[in-house]
Amino acid sequence: MEETKRPRVLSGIQPTGGFTLGNYIGAIRNWDKLQDDCECLYCVVDLHSITIRHEPAALRRQIREAAAMLLACGVDPGRAVLFIQGDVSAHAELSWILSCYTQFGELSRMTQFKDKSQKHPENVNAGLFTYPVLMAADILLYQADLVPIGADQKQHLELARNIAERFNGIYGEVFTVPEGYFPKVGGRVMSLQDPASKMSKSDENENAKIMLTDGPDAIIRKFKRAVTDSESTVCAAENKPGIVNLMTIYSALSGRSFEEIEREFEGRGYGDFKLAVGECVASELAPIQGEYARILADKSYLDGVLAEGASRASALAQRTLAKVSRKIGLK
Ligand code: TYM
Repeated sequence: MEETKRPRVLSGIQPTGGFTLGNYIGAIRNWDKLQDDCECLYCVVDLHSITIRHEPAALRRQIREAAAMLLACGVDPGRAVLFIQGDVSAHAELSWILSCYTQFGELSRMTQFKDKSQKHPENVNAGLFTYPVLMAADILLYQADLVPIGADQKQHLELARNIAERFNGIYGEVFTVPEGYFPKVGGRVMSLQDPASKMSKSDENENAKIMLTDGPDAIIRKFKRAVTDSESTVCAAENKPGIVNLMTIYSALSGRSFEEIEREFEGRGYGDFKLAVGECVASELAPIQGEYARILADKSYLDGVLAEGASRASALAQRTLAKVSRKIGLK
C-alpha cells in the first residue's frame, strides 16, 4: 500500500528575550501537536534577531536557551527537526534571491516594519526592512505546506505566499504555497496591562507579560494585577477586553469553552477568576520549567540535537536551493 505523504510543517521563533505565554499559546503548543501527523521542522531564527542592536554574548546564550525551551515544551527530536537558522546557510542565500522578486512597496506595507521602525527610529536598518523576505526563505526552502504561527505573523505569511506564487508564475512549480495554521483560541494573546495591545516580550512593564520561566508566585501576582474593568461578572463582552483576554488564556489551557467558563464563575468575582487563571498557567508551566533546567544543563545532549537538526535541515534546504539556482540560470 502506498503511504500518503504527510504535510510538511515549518515554523520559527526569535531567541532574544525569552518566550512569553503568547508565544506558547499562539504557536509553540501547535508545534507540539502537529508532530503526530506531520513532518515538522522548527528553527530558532537567530538571523532574524540581529535587526535590533544586541549583546553578542547574550545572543549566544539565548539561542541555546531557546532551543532548550522548545524541547522542554514538547518539540521532540525523534519526530521533528530542531535547528538553528544560522547553521543552515541556504536561508541567507535564498533570502537574497527572493529579495529580487519582492517589491519595495510590498515590504513598505508590513505593519511590523512600521511598528519597529517607529520604536527604534535610530536604527531603521535594511535588515529590518527585508526581514519578511528572510522569513519567506525560511518557509519556502522546506516546501512547507503548513506554518503554525500566531495572528501577528499572518501578514508576513501572506507575503511569503505572494512571493512563492510570483516565482512559480515565472519559472513553473518551484515552491509549495504554504498555508497558515492558527490556534482555535489564543491566536493573539494580549498584554495583561493593556488589553488593546499584544503581549510582547519587549514590553518594559514586567506585569504586562508572563514569561515561560516565571515562577508560580510571579505568575499569580501578575494575573491578580491584570487590568480588567469596573464590573464583576466573568463574561465575554466587547467592552471587556481584559476579561476576554483572561478567558482566552484559561480556555486555551483548560480546553473549556467560554460558556463553560462563564458558568464556572457565575456569581463569583474577578478575584476568584484571576486566581484560577494564574493557578492554571502556573501548573501548565511548572513541568516545562523542570524540563528546561534539566535540558539546559545537559550540554552534550543539546549540542547533539542541534548538530543533527542542522544536518537534516541542510540536506532538505540544499535541494530547494539547487532547484532555484537552476531555474534562474545561476547553475
Ligand atoms: P516571534 O519570535 O515574534 O514569535 C514566535 C511565534 O509566537 C507567536 N506570538 C504570539 N501568538 C499569540 N499571541 C501573542 N501575543 C504572540 N506573540 C508572538 C508569533 O505569531 C509566532 O508564531 N517572524 C517570526 C519568526 C519567524 C518565523 C519564520 C515564523 C521567522 N521565520 C518562519 C514562521 C515561519 C517572529 O518574529 O515570531
